[in-house]
Formats: sequence, structure tokens, C-alpha cells
Amino acid sequence: MSLPGGTWTLGDLSVTRFGYGAMQLAGPWVMGPPADRDGALAVLKEAVAQGITHIDTSDAYGPHVTNELIREALHPYPESLHVVTKVGANRDEKGGWPPARDPESLRRSIESNLRGLGLETLDLVNLRLGNAQGPQPESVAEAFGTLADLQREGLIRHLGVSNATVDQIAEAQAIAPIVCVQNMYNLAFRHDDELIDKLAAQGVAYVPFFPLGGFSPLQSEALSAVAARLGATAMSVALAWLLQRSPNILLIPGTSSVAHLRENIAGAGLSLSADDLAELDKIGD
Ligand SMILES: NC(=O)c1ccc[n+]([C@@H]2O[C@H](COP(=O)([O-])OP(=O)(O)OC[C@H]3O[C@@H](n4cnc5c(N)ncnc54)[C@H](OP(=O)(O)O)[C@@H]3O)[C@@H](O)[C@H]2O)c1
Repeated sequence: MSLPGGTWTLGDLSVTRFGYGAMQLAGPWVMGPPADRDGALAVLKEAVAQGITHIDTSDAYGPHVTNELIREALHPYPESLHVVTKVGANRDEKGGWPPARDPESLRRSIESNLRGLGLETLDLVNLRLGNAQGPQPESVAEAFGTLADLQREGLIRHLGVSNATVDQIAEAQAIAPIVCVQNMYNLAFRHDDELIDKLAAQGVAYVPFFPLGGFSPLQSEALSAVAARLGATAMSVALAWLLQRSPNILLIPGTSSVAHLRENIAGAGLSLSADDLAELDKIGD
């Protein structure tokens, strides 16, 4: 089955550029179990049935909840499916995301991801940096070096960074190769425009989180106008725009609804004209 955007190679792993982000399958504010467990399992099964081969998750979602749902819905995993996880933050009782980037916490988190997902090796692990306010300037040497050690031990196939600054990406790359950067980016939040082009030139994937605006869905008059003209939803236009923005962009939109998943897959294939793109470009100005 062919999905909009075709495929991309992360290291030696071929993935569909249209992937799926599992974060919002957990309970409200990514804590606890989902209200509709069967519905969550159905979305994961539908993602794979539709041909998606890239699922993004983290042991911090729930915590443990989305990894366990993925395992229950999809294990044993098809060979083509690559589950990408991230480490570097824990959860506290208030739903906060305290950093956990010391070597011991990172090792524990890798082991917990392996257990939760039922894997012996994690295909790709992102080191989550910064905090809920965004990337923060700090050295990543110790934390990324720890993940590189765990990679050498055979627990991780490929590495990436998330919520990272340009300097942190360079610092990590001096320690070990990275295959992706996962940062916040969408039609209305274009802080990483230059970075995306730089990574494209290096063959490194850029995986925008909150592609649809995350907890506050994207809203813009220009987006609604283009969507109305094309007879499409705003979500479809936002995803199609990302796929057309650069070939190294991989999508991981989240949804807890099979209907939305199907709608997003169909919509991401929209072809946007030069006029549409010019109008949409103004949103990020
Ligand atoms: N690295 C990091 O620090 C970080 C941070 C945040 C997220 N992430 C990753 O990025 C992924 C994507 O982020 P996200 O899920 O938070 O945000 P998102 O993909 O921007 O948006 C998801 C929201 O959009 C809604 N939605 C999706 N399709 C829709 C449609 N067709 N019509 C109407 N509403 C629709 C969903 O609601 P419904 O459930 O009702 O469809 C959900 O509330 C996450 O799953 C996670 O894996 C990473």
C-alpha cells in the first residue's frame, strides 16, 4: 500500500514518511490509561493496516501506557514496522516531565522501553532535551554519550535528538551519528526552517512534533481559506504542506480516532499549488 510522501531511510531502516504519533493515546495530559482502550488498540492496528511503518512513542507517555498499548495491539511486530521511542524525561505525580538524563536514569529508561515494547533492541531512540518551554542551552555530551554506549552494547540501533538546539545537534553528531531530529514545527511555528534545510543536505530526517498544533489545534484564516478552496480539511492542508516542505520531513500526527487517521492519510496526499504554498507561507511570518 502506498502512503502519501513515499518512504525515507533512517540509517538502514526504511519508513513511510507518513507515520503515527502515539502520545495522545494515553489518558488526559498523557497520564494514565485511555478512556477507550479498545479504540486506542484499533487505531494502532489501523495504522499498520494502512501501511504505516513508523510509530513514535515514549515510556514517559502514561507513563508506560502507550508502549504497552503498542505491544498489545501489534506484537509480534511486522518486520517492516519501526517503533521509535525517546528517553530523557520522567513523569511526576502532577503530570510534569522532570528531566532524567543522568546515565543511570537513561539506562533504566532504555530497559523499561525494551520491556514495555517487548523488544531486544530499540530501532531508534531520541534523547529528549530541554523542557516543556522548548529547547534549552546545555551540554548534551554526558547524556548522548551514555546513549552511544548503550548503542555499542546493542540495545539501540540508531540515535536521534529531540527538543534540541542547533548547537546541541552538532555536539551530539560529534559523539555519534544521528538519523533524525524531532522538534516542534508546523505551519504556524517555523523556528526550525533553516535547520530543516541543513539536515536535508546531511540526509538527516526532521520529524516535527505537534504537526497539527498539538494540544491547541492549528487555526488560521489563511489555512481555512486554502482548505475551503481545495474542498479539504485544515488538518489535511497542514499535513500536505509538511510533506511538500522538504523530503526529509517525516509525519507523526497523533489521533485517537480511526476516522481521523484515515482522513489524515487521505488528506496528506493533497497537491498544493505555488499559489497555495505562497498563501500558507505567510502564516509562519
Ligand atoms: N519530542 C517531544 O518532546 C514531543 C512532544 C510532543 C509530541 N511528540 C510526538 O509527536 C506526536 C504528535 O503530536 P501530538 O499528537 O501531540 O499533536 P498533533 O499531531 O499536532 O495533534 C494531535 C491532535 O490533533 C487531533 N486530530 C488529529 N487528526 C485530526 C483530524 N483529522 N480532525 C480533527 N482533529 C484531529 C487529535 O485529536 P483526536 O484524537 O480527536 O483525533 C489530537 O488532539 C505525538 O504523538 C508524540 O509521539 C513529541
